[in-house]
Amino acid sequence: MKSVDLVIRGGQVVGPDRIVAASVAIEGEHIVAVGHDDVMPSAKQEMRADGLYLLPGAIDSHVHFRDPGYAHKETWESGSAAAVCGGVTTVFDMPNTNPPTGTREALALKLKSAQRSYADFGIHALLDDSTVGHLEDLLAGGATSFKAFVGNTFGNLPPPTDGALLEGFEKLAPLGIRTVVHAENSSILARRQKVMEDAGRIDALAHLAARPAVCEIEAIGRVLTLAEWTGARVHIAHHSAADSLYLIRDAKRRGVEVTVETCPQYLLLNTEDMLRLGGIMRLNPPIREARHNQPLWDALMEGVIDMIATDHAPHTPEEKTRESIWACDCGFPGVETQMPLMLTEVNRKRATLMDYVRWSAVNPARAWGIYGTKGVIATGAHADIAFVDMARSGTLAQGRLQSISKISPWHGRTVQGYPVHTLLRGRFVMRDGELVTEAMGWGRSVKSLQTMPTPRPRNTELYSSAITTTPPGVRPNALPSEDVPR
Ligand code: DOR
Ligand code: ZN
Repeated sequence: MKSVDLVIRGGQVVGPDRIVAASVAIEGEHIVAVGHDDVMPSAKQEMRADGLYLLPGAIDSHVHFRDPGYAHKETWESGSAAAVCGGVTTVFDMPNTNPPTGTREALALKLKSAQRSYADFGIHALLDDSTVGHLEDLLAGGATSFKAFVGNTFGNLPPPTDGALLEGFEKLAPLGIRTVVHAENSSILARRQKVMEDAGRIDALAHLAARPAVCEIEAIGRVLTLAEWTGARVHIAHHSAADSLYLIRDAKRRGVEVTVETCPQYLLLNTEDMLRLGGIMRLNPPIREARHNQPLWDALMEGVIDMIATDHAPHTPEEKTRESIWACDCGFPGVETQMPLMLTEVNRKRATLMDYVRWSAVNPARAWGIYGTKGVIATGAHADIAFVDMARSGTLAQGRLQSISKISPWHGRTVQGYPVHTLLRGRFVMRDGELVTEAMGWGRSVKSLQTMPTPRPRNTELYSSAITTTPPGVRPNALPSEDVPR
């Protein structure tokens, strides 16, 4: 066998079901062998990974890299630098940029900015009333998936009407394309917020009071109804409430094609922290009372929640620390801190490393149709590897984040378990904790890797016949008066 580019020896390879001591051989962008040290081919470069775990690079289904439009908050360069320094090799970017990712032109602008990415990426295009007429066009332009802001949030994009959402699902179901949904009821939260504001409330907890869990319960119920009716694939973003889990559990049992993410902030923070940190912790959906934390963990263990994402939502310190809670922008950075935070919980025996790999890599790869090439350390897959040191401990510091948004509720938190090197398609993008700046632009779209399982559309024929001309043999509408019994 000819000599390959790189062989990594001495590490523990982590998969969703087992951890094995194995060497990994890499040629170009791909893994060409995983196995015993003795059977590895000769290599131009050898690397020791003794004492380290080799995890498939994490896949974050939910980041806001803000580019184009809000470069003072984040750019593709800074956001993706944060990703790879956090062991994340693939990100899916959200469409609430400026312009929103709802036209071919806006999509082209985003793809141009993404040429500076350190991480591989997918693009969620916007699904709302303004885009539902040209979803295929957005897919042809490079979108991997869609996002519907059913709940209002940063960017103030109007929520899709139920009619547009149904129509979007009717169109996407036969294609098997998945739609991310921000599931909150916009009408309830707008009304509640106004009541709070009129009453003079400007404190942090007023934000939670404006967005009670029923907003999430109602919106998830509605979205699942439309998804089940059409057979469309949906993905619930940033699941925050214990009370809406039963809807997902039941829908999954019935075969609804729903995947769900939650984020470290919903697992590890609650209103106690909100009282301490105020606007820094303002985000949508809000962080809730402590009673929600453990049920979200249980749902992850059970598979009701499929994965960890971050909702990486950077804003400047000034935008996060204004006096009134209503004036503080919603969201905070997270793509860089997710892995150390979750590994710390693994060290605390709350989950295993294999569970973590299922949530951070395997399940997101499956949801977005890139599993096999991404999400796994195996022959034929991309060489996307997070080298993890489970013994290394430290303190998260907002000033050291790669993100432009140097303000984080995790500031000062002690963690144990860090990614120390990140490999993307055979190339180091982070090494010894340092960004490899020459790798800027190495990231590319995962669009060409996407293969979704066979779609199972239901009840979509009525939609397709509604938009074609009257089928043969059917009389045009308007009941002729002579047919009406008198
Ligand atoms: O808090 C949030 N901020 N939630 C979202 O859904 C959007 C995000 C943002 O874009 O800032
Ligand atoms: Zn978001």
